[in-house]
Amino acid sequence: LKTFSLFQGLSDDTLATVSRLAMMRRIPRGQSVVHAGERCDFVYLVLTGSLKVVVSDEDGREVILTILGQGELFGEMSMFGEQPRSATVVAVMPSDLVMIAKNDFRTILQGNFEVAWRIMANLADRLRSADRKIESLALMDVYGRVARLLLEMSEEVNGAVVVVRKITKQDIAKMIGASREMVSRVMKDLAAQGLIEETGAGIVLRDRLQSV
Ligand code: CMP
Repeated sequence: LKTFSLFQGLSDDTLATVSRLAMMRRIPRGQSVVHAGERCDFVYLVLTGSLKVVVSDEDGREVILTILGQGELFGEMSMFGEQPRSATVVAVMPSDLVMIAKNDFRTILQGNFEVAWRIMANLADRLRSADRKIESLALMDVYGRVARLLLEMSEEVNGAVVVVRKITKQDIAKMIGASREMVSRVMKDLAAQGLIEETGAGIVLRDRLQSV
């Protein structure tokens, strides 16, 4: 538990209490953990793996709101709002989760303002990124949306800016509200212009991509 930034700085006693309340769960690839519309019983932390947060319509068309990775918390929104789950969370690779019952998590937050503050900061970050998404859907073409998403998902690796997380063109399409064919065409174009390069280590981004 010490490895989660959410719990950083907690005393050993508090960590021991948290670990007593926490349970482990392994989720196979493709299986969902929480379902939109269901009641909230647990909050989850990602120990290993990767999960997508999706909303879909009756025809099965889905939008990917985000992809969660190691150290991230989910399932807290319905706990705060006493509302049903806002989205479905599906493992995109085998994932290990730490799960804590809603009431236990509430007790932990009551005794640890730092942890509660970090969750509030996290919710604010999420709102900021949702605002950016509204902006890009309303104001940007697919080139701009692909470029922005790649930049948001990238990290610095040995001086290069790289999207290391495995992501399919279909997933990119579902994250930016475009078709897979359009995303393929745009990425081919960006590669032809030397703005991105698909390598074994991931998608390498060039500086000039910022201005697309
Ligand atoms: P909850 O509503 O309980 O169940 C679905 C979870 O998906 C939700 O809590 C959040 O933890 C997570 N989630 C929903 N929307 C987003 C988003 N836009 N970005 C990141 N995570 C989200």
